[in-house]
Amino acid sequence: MILKIFLECLVAHLAYSLSQSPILIVVSYDAFRYDFFDTKSVPHMNRLRKLGTYSDYLINVFPTKTFPNHHSIATGLYPDIHGVVGNSYFNKSTNSVVHINYEMFHFDEKVVPIWRQNEDAGKGRHSGVVMWPGGCYPYQGKQVTYCKDYDHNFDWFKRVDLVIGWIKDPKKPANLIMLYFDEPDTDGHIYGINSDVVNKLINKLDNITLYLQQQLEKNNLTGKVTVVHLSDHGMLDVKPPNFINVTQYLTPGTYTYAGSTPVLQFHPKKGFETEVYQKLKNASSQDHFTVYKKEEFLPRWHYKDNPRSPPILVLAEVGYGLDDLIISAKQNAEKNHYKLTNQSTFGVHGYDYTVKEMRPFFMARGPKIKVNHKVPPFNTVDLFNFFCAILEIAPTKNNGSLANVEDIFVGTSGYSLTTILTITAGGIVVSLILISCAAVLTLMMIKRQQSITTTAALNKRFPQTFQTSIEAQHLLEPEDA
Ligand SMILES: *[C@@H]1O[C@H](CO)[C@@H](O)[C@H](O)[C@H]1NC(C)=O
Ligand SMILES: *[C@@H]1O[C@H](CO)[C@@H](O)[C@H](O)[C@H]1NC(C)=O
Ligand SMILES: *[C@@H]1O[C@H](CO)[C@@H](O)[C@H](O)[C@H]1NC(C)=O
Ligand SMILES: *[C@@H]1O[C@H](CO)[C@@H](O)[C@H](O)[C@H]1NC(C)=O
Ligand SMILES: *[C@@H]1O[C@H](CO)[C@@H](O)[C@H](O)[C@H]1NC(C)=O
Ligand SMILES: *[C@@H]1O[C@H](CO)[C@@H](O)[C@H](O)[C@H]1NC(C)=O
Ligand SMILES: *[C@@H]1O[C@H](CO)[C@@H](O)[C@H](O)[C@H]1NC(C)=O
Ligand SMILES: [Zn+2]
Repeated sequence: MILKIFLECLVAHLAYSLSQSPILIVVSYDAFRYDFFDTKSVPHMNRLRKLGTYSDYLINVFPTKTFPNHHSIATGLYPDIHGVVGNSYFNKSTNSVVHINYEMFHFDEKVVPIWRQNEDAGKGRHSGVVMWPGGCYPYQGKQVTYCKDYDHNFDWFKRVDLVIGWIKDPKKPANLIMLYFDEPDTDGHIYGINSDVVNKLINKLDNITLYLQQQLEKNNLTGKVTVVHLSDHGMLDVKPPNFINVTQYLTPGTYTYAGSTPVLQFHPKKGFETEVYQKLKNASSQDHFTVYKKEEFLPRWHYKDNPRSPPILVLAEVGYGLDDLIISAKQNAEKNHYKLTNQSTFGVHGYDYTVKEMRPFFMARGPKIKVNHKVPPFNTVDLFNFFCAILEIAPTKNNGSLANVEDIFVGTSGYSLTTILTITAGGIVVSLILISCAAVLTLMMIKRQQSITTTAALNKRFPQTFQTSIEAQHLLEPEDA
C-alpha cells in the first residue's frame, strides 16, 4: 500500500512537473544587427548580455536572408545542403518561383531541424515553435508537438506567455522552444533602420527581452532554462538614387528571376544562356553590381551545389538595390502613406556575410553558460552543435564545429564536463524526488489542479493554428523577409 502511494506520487510528479530534459529557449529577432547594442536603446539586452556569454557578432550564411539563415541555425547546414537558397527560388521542373511553402524546407528528407531531433532523442522531449520559418511543416511525416504559425499581428507579450505555458504544460512539458519575432526586419524594410518606427520597435524588443526574463523568474525557471537570443542577419539603408534597374539591360522574355534585392537569381530561357550572361556582364562593368556565373560562385558561400541554385547571380554593390526594390519601395510608400523621395530609406540585407552591416548577434544565459563572458565571433552553422550540447543530444552530421562554441560552457572542457555535471545534478534531483514524494503528495495534487487550470485557460486564449496561414501571410508581406 505504501509502495503503491509512493509509485503513484512518483508518476504524478514526473507527469506534472517540468521536463526532466534540459530546457532551451532560442529567441530570434529578425534583422537585429550586431551593433544595435551600441546604437539603439536596449538597456535590458545590454544588461542580460553580461549575465551570460555573448559574442560581438555571428558569421552568417550567404545570402544573408531570413529563410536560409534560420534554416542554417536550425540544422547546422549550409544553404546548398539544406536547399533553402533564398527567400524564394526558381524550380526548373515546374518552371515557377517558389515562395515559402512545404517544398522550400524539404529539399532533402534527411535534413531534420533541431526541434524534431529533440523530440526524436527520447520520450518526454517536446518542442514548441512560435513562427520560426519552416516550423509548422511536418518533417519525415511528423509535426512538432507545439506550433504557432506566422502571424505578424500576434501580440509579443502573448508569444512569451504561450511559450511559458508550453514549458509548464502538465502533460507534455516542452524542453525546446524556437521563438521568432519578425521585427525589426518587417518595418526596417519599409522605413529604414534609423526611423522612429524601427527605433521604437527595437526598444519594444528590449522590453520583451525583460518580460521573458521576468516570466522565467516568476515561474522559478531562471536557474533551469537556457535562453539564447540571436538574429539571422543585420540590415543597412538604401536610398532611391541607388536603385538599379538591372533588367533594362536584357531583352524581355529571355529570362526569369527569383530572390530579392540585393541578390537576384537569374534563369535564362533555353537558348539565351550566353546572351543573358554577356549582357549582364557587360552592363556590370559600368554599373553598381556584380554578375556571377555558377562556376564563379565563391566556394565559401556554400551556395553552388544545389539544383535550386541559379545559373547566374546578380549581386548589388553594398548600399545599392535592384529591380524588386524599385517596385516594393513604391508599394511601401503608397501602402504606408508616406512620400517617396531621394532621401527615403529602405532597409536591405542579403549581401555577402563579410559586409559588417549584415552581421547578426548572439548571447546566451543559463545553468551551463559562463557568466560575464565573451567568446570570439563564430558561425551561424555552429549554433546547431551548441544547441545539441545544451539539450544533451547527439548532433547529426552538420557543417558546424563544437570546438567553436565550447568556451561558452562552464568548465574548461565544455561539453564533457557539462555532461558530468548534469548527470550528477540529475542524480541529486531524482533522489530528492524519491525522498520528498510521500510527504508532498497532497501538495502535488493541489498544484496539479492549478496547473491544469492554467493550461486550459492558455489553450483557450491561444488556440493553435496549423499550417494554414503561413503562405497567405507571406504573400501579403514584402517578399524580402
Ligand atoms: C520542383 O517541384 C517539384 C514538384 O513540386 C518537386 O518534386 C521537386 O523536388 C522540386 N525541385 C526542387 C529542386 O526543389
Ligand atoms: C518599454 O518599457 C518602458 C518602461 O516600461 C516604457 O517606458 C517604454 O515605453 C517601452 N517601450 C516601448 C517601445 O513599448
Ligand atoms: C517559486 O518558488 C517559491 C519559493 O520556493 C514558491 O513560493 C513559489 O510558489 C514558486 N512559484 C511557482 C510559480 O512555482
Ligand atoms: C533624385 O536622384 C536622382 C538620381 O541621383 C536625380 O537624378 C534626381 O534629380 C533626384 N531628384 C531630386 C528631386 O533631387
Ligand atoms: C526597367 O527598365 C525597363 C526598360 O526601360 C522598364 O521596362 C522596366 O519597367 C524597368 N523596371 C523597373 C522595375 O522599373
Ligand atoms: C559585350 O561587350 C563586348 C565588348 O564591348 C561586345 O563585343 C559584345 O558584343 C557585348 N555583348 C553583348 C551581349 O552586349
Ligand atoms: C556539410 O555537411 C554535409 C552533411 O554532413 C556534408 O555532406 C557536406 O559535405 C558538408 N559541407 C562542407 C563544406 O563541409
Ligand atoms: Zn531576416
